[in-house]
Amino acid sequence: MEDFPLNRVILYDIDNERQNPIGGFGKILFKEEAPGVKFLYTSDKETAYKDVDFVFCQMRTGGYPMREKDEKIPLSFGIIGQETCGPGGFAYGMRSIRDMIQMADDVRKYSDAWIINYTNPAAIVALALSKAFPDDKKILNICDQPVNLLRSYGRAIGYDYKKLDPRYFGLNHFGWFTHIYDEFGFDIAPKIKEAILSNGFKPADAEQRDESWLDTYAVVKDMLMDFPEYLPNTYLQYYLYPEYKAAKLDPNFTRANEVMKGREKKVFEECERAIEIGSTKDSAIVHNDAHGDMILEVAISIAKNLQKTYILILPNKGIIGNLPDDAMVETAASLGAGGVSPYAVGNIDTFYKGLIENQYAFEKLTVEAYFEASYTKALAALTLNRTVVDAKKARKVLDALIEANEGYWPKLL
Ligand code: G6P
Ligand code: MN
Repeated sequence: MEDFPLNRVILYDIDNERQNPIGGFGKILFKEEAPGVKFLYTSDKETAYKDVDFVFCQMRTGGYPMREKDEKIPLSFGIIGQETCGPGGFAYGMRSIRDMIQMADDVRKYSDAWIINYTNPAAIVALALSKAFPDDKKILNICDQPVNLLRSYGRAIGYDYKKLDPRYFGLNHFGWFTHIYDEFGFDIAPKIKEAILSNGFKPADAEQRDESWLDTYAVVKDMLMDFPEYLPNTYLQYYLYPEYKAAKLDPNFTRANEVMKGREKKVFEECERAIEIGSTKDSAIVHNDAHGDMILEVAISIAKNLQKTYILILPNKGIIGNLPDDAMVETAASLGAGGVSPYAVGNIDTFYKGLIENQYAFEKLTVEAYFEASYTKALAALTLNRTVVDAKKARKVLDALIEANEGYWPKLL
């Protein structure tokens, strides 16, 4: 209440059955922790969006069963099966665009609230929203992975991550930290790299992570050994080592299975347990989460005009000098009531420019394939993706994904 005074918190979902335990938990939580705040949950748009200042959004069209298909279908052709990268990210993107446009349209019917969006694949969603709402300055696409990495650097060198001031460039799930300043303004990126190269790398919350995430963080050391200039986002490994990663993924038990059996189950069971006993007092699941903290801090920085630095997804417009103006890039920016003030990156070197231009072409063609319902553009997008490359493979995986996504995608002609 001190940092972010609230009158009302409203949860909105189109899926009542899924919402009920979360809403029930929330009701008890707010009664116990913040009785002055009005809390409700609903599947009515007007109730959800009218007279609100902030909309925090994350949706997963098709739910986890579709994530499972996004991961398993590519793997059945020997290609990376991943939530946001490669053909899986392409398929998820084609599903997300329609519903995200619908959501932003619905919100705008009732308010000019800030829409702060986590929906994945964020790169593709951000690009599609910038096309559909070119003049809307209050849609902000964000990702928590850079913060997860900062927290983990803090752990690696025994330093409070809150005091780290990062500089970063790239696309969402496709970028690099160039500098990380400490509280005195010294760039300690070299020290962080040294620590990772000698001790390996672990997520800040390693003790709570599944094995697959621990492996993902461990591979950061390999990336640093090959390309020592900048600290890479974990997601780059799918593009830099596609053969190694595809071989490591289990085509019968992917991350979606791990999540459905693990986190999803745990969260819903915990909600039901709390509802049964009528208290959330001993529930551990509501505290200490980078994902939840970031979206709140971003909103607070806007509401209180704090001008704090966050890594956000923004229209390039010269931030990275030698990339197209209309690309949606991920960079550091200060954030206040008037919106974002990004830090200029300047021109980037050939290796990064080549990788980013290739990935951006994939993202742009994906969005165009959606808006134009174009099979040829979808095939071109997948062929460009570094996890695919071979156009014959691209066609096979595209055809299988079209079949699996019937009703979710526009009909590609
Ligand atoms: C990070 C990324 C998100 C992604 C998530 C997947 O937080 O920034 O974009 O959705 O990881 O995590 P999960 O545990 O669901 O595999
Ligand atoms: Mn993300």
